[in-house]
Amino acid sequence: MQLIDGKEIATTIQNELAQEVATMLADGARPPHLAAILVGNDGGSVTYVNAKVKACERIGYRSTLVRLEDTITQDELIEQVNRLNNDPEIDGFIVQLPLPKHINEHAIIEAIAPAKDVDGFHPVNVGRMALNLPCYLPATPYGIMQLIQRCGIDTAGKHAVVIGRSHIVGSPMSILLARNTKGANCTVTLCHSRTQNLEAHTRTADIVVVALGKPKFLKAHMIKEGAVVIDVGTTRVDAPGTKLGFKLHGDVDFDEVAPKTNWITPVPGGVGPMTITGLLQNTMLAAKKAKY
Ligand code: GUN
Repeated sequence: MQLIDGKEIATTIQNELAQEVATMLADGARPPHLAAILVGNDGGSVTYVNAKVKACERIGYRSTLVRLEDTITQDELIEQVNRLNNDPEIDGFIVQLPLPKHINEHAIIEAIAPAKDVDGFHPVNVGRMALNLPCYLPATPYGIMQLIQRCGIDTAGKHAVVIGRSHIVGSPMSILLARNTKGANCTVTLCHSRTQNLEAHTRTADIVVVALGKPKFLKAHMIKEGAVVIDVGTTRVDAPGTKLGFKLHGDVDFDEVAPKTNWITPVPGGVGPMTITGLLQNTMLAAKKAKY
């Protein structure tokens, strides 16, 4: 069993980005600038957005956090999106999800200019991804593809099973793994809540990506010997007495699954740090106008 050290790989890539920023500054350019819109005070969202802003500062990007009340109307939020779309000082931005129930997420995402959509959620970017055209890839699947590539894991012709079909992780993951590109070319099975006999699929998988948000869901008997297991789960579980008061639990029962694997990501320190890294990479591409 080898651990896929997302923290170390993320640090390496972020150091590379910091070098690129230094080169941009030496050339007289301004640093990349990421903005984030955060609506309301959801604990998880506040933590994630703050982590994104902090990561920007660490590698020399500019960042702007736009905090809005959760009473904001959909039209007012679209106005804010348009303001960022039209601000030449901002290279890319995200609207942190989930949004309050009275706001239609699709309407907000579609209001974002595709060239500034560094989350890769706009239908134009999703379509371009599916067609293997230049685009911003959604950060978590982008990060996972880089983990697989940087660990030198053989993917061509392998059977990959993705559990979970969310728009943010599972669906794009299945598309990226199936593409005719280096580090992909898998035969992909996308499993979800209506899948029958899930274990019959996972037991034949060379690569399993678990993204359903159920702690310790994947057990040892569900995988084959020597599989590669990627754990996207980050469920907060109360842990009184710890510094944060909670612990992050993955979707994989690590203690029993790990000994059976060839490669596995830990939680924390696996996929999580790569999500922010993917966003930072997209923001660098946006600053260089490399995709549009
Ligand atoms: N909520 C959970 N993950 C994400 C993400 O990657 N981007 C945004 N904008 N919101 C999220």
